[in-house]
Amino acid sequence: MRIVMIGTGYVGLVSGACFSDFGHTVTCVDKDRSKIDALLNGEIPIFEPGLDELVAKNVAAGRLSFTLNLAEALPDADAVFIAVGTPTRRGDGHADLTYVYAAAEEMAPLLREGAVVVDKSTVPVGTGDEVEKIIARTAPDLKFSVASNPEFLREGAAIDDFARPDRIVVGVNDAHAEEVMEAIYRPLTSNGAPLIVMSRRAAELTKYAANAFLATKISFINEMADLCEKVGADVRDVAHGIGTDSRIGGRFLQPGPGYGGSCFPKDTLALLKTAELFDTRVSIVEAVVESNDRRKAAMGEKVIAALGGGSAGDLSGKTVAVLGLTFKADTDDMRDSPAIDIVRALTARGITVRAYDPEGMEQAQKHEGLGADDLTYCSTAYEAMEGAHAMVIVTEWKPFRALDLDRAKEALAAPVLVDLRNLYSRKDVEDHGFTYVAVGR
Ligand code: UDX
Repeated sequence: MRIVMIGTGYVGLVSGACFSDFGHTVTCVDKDRSKIDALLNGEIPIFEPGLDELVAKNVAAGRLSFTLNLAEALPDADAVFIAVGTPTRRGDGHADLTYVYAAAEEMAPLLREGAVVVDKSTVPVGTGDEVEKIIARTAPDLKFSVASNPEFLREGAAIDDFARPDRIVVGVNDAHAEEVMEAIYRPLTSNGAPLIVMSRRAAELTKYAANAFLATKISFINEMADLCEKVGADVRDVAHGIGTDSRIGGRFLQPGPGYGGSCFPKDTLALLKTAELFDTRVSIVEAVVESNDRRKAAMGEKVIAALGGGSAGDLSGKTVAVLGLTFKADTDDMRDSPAIDIVRALTARGITVRAYDPEGMEQAQKHEGLGADDLTYCSTAYEAMEGAHAMVIVTEWKPFRALDLDRAKEALAAPVLVDLRNLYSRKDVEDHGFTYVAVGR
């Protein structure tokens, strides 16, 4: 198969590299010259474990290439994937489809007969219909199909998720599109991966429903964690106790500082907008969005309470070491990270923040309130701890799981550990003379 991937962001680049690794010939196209130049030089513009080797291997094999020029790549393509960004539109919370529609507009005069255009970007229900209309307007005599193929990749584990998916969801409205999509994914389905074929609208909604459901699980366990703290129970026992029921399932029941990232916050909001548009109430998703916002705000207060609380005046002499800024480990992604809310809450009360993150410090500084003037960025976790009255683990990076607590105690002005990811055993930490504050226990 000859595949064109429009957009070399996270989804496009990972998917393009993985498709080429299956043996398909893939051309990745982007408008951003600096991205394409970097890729042509063998540099990967995002941090994703294993992606650089995968790209290098398939470029060397002649199956993967990069270009700025859509006209050069498109005329031969059996399938054209749209993998451009769909950020939250400023002001109204809807998904911004400008880039998706621009891609449809641009490809329309270049498509070959029988081409299948595949939406891989996360797009609201009905976007496939719109893409179809846009192309048909420019090329009224062309036979083509539009399919939906949402991705379920987790950052940091994307290549593995692509190669070993729980399922592949394909939304099609005609037999030709189904055939082409089956051929594209045969290297996975022949290895046992289930391919679920459904209508285009069902596939579009499946992506939002999956993310909203996962966000619901997280918010649910976060609220149970709050309750556990009040009733004197350990939320890990409760999560284990319910998660072993196969109807519930044990994954995505880790309490923490609230979900962040490029998907859950944006997709839950967009789902609310879709429901509004179709005049349907999705009150559970509404509650999840509110619960997560509250949670992120509450985490700053939790840290302040661990410092002994007090007014801005009492707190202005205090320093907090923030360990981890990215929304989760193994990524440099700061989008909607709970760390943003936590740092802002602390600095707003006059508290000095010293932070360290293995990958995210460059991205972090782009956020309002997290500039180099607002906090001190440090080059190790221990440097961040120097003179701090508490250290807070916000992201579950591996190096934070086995900190040298004796060394930490020496660096800190007060031995207080706020562990928002429940990485430590209370007994171990307290035996080292620390005050230990965890989540839901
Ligand atoms: C998610 C989905 O998992 C993926 O299928 C979809 O395609 C994109 O969105 P991602 O955003 O990369 O992937 O991260 P994920 O590992 O799902 O975590 C999302 C957020 O939830 C993080 O902030 C994480 O810390 C939090 N989380 C996750 C929890 O707080 N508890 C959990 O048990 C799991």
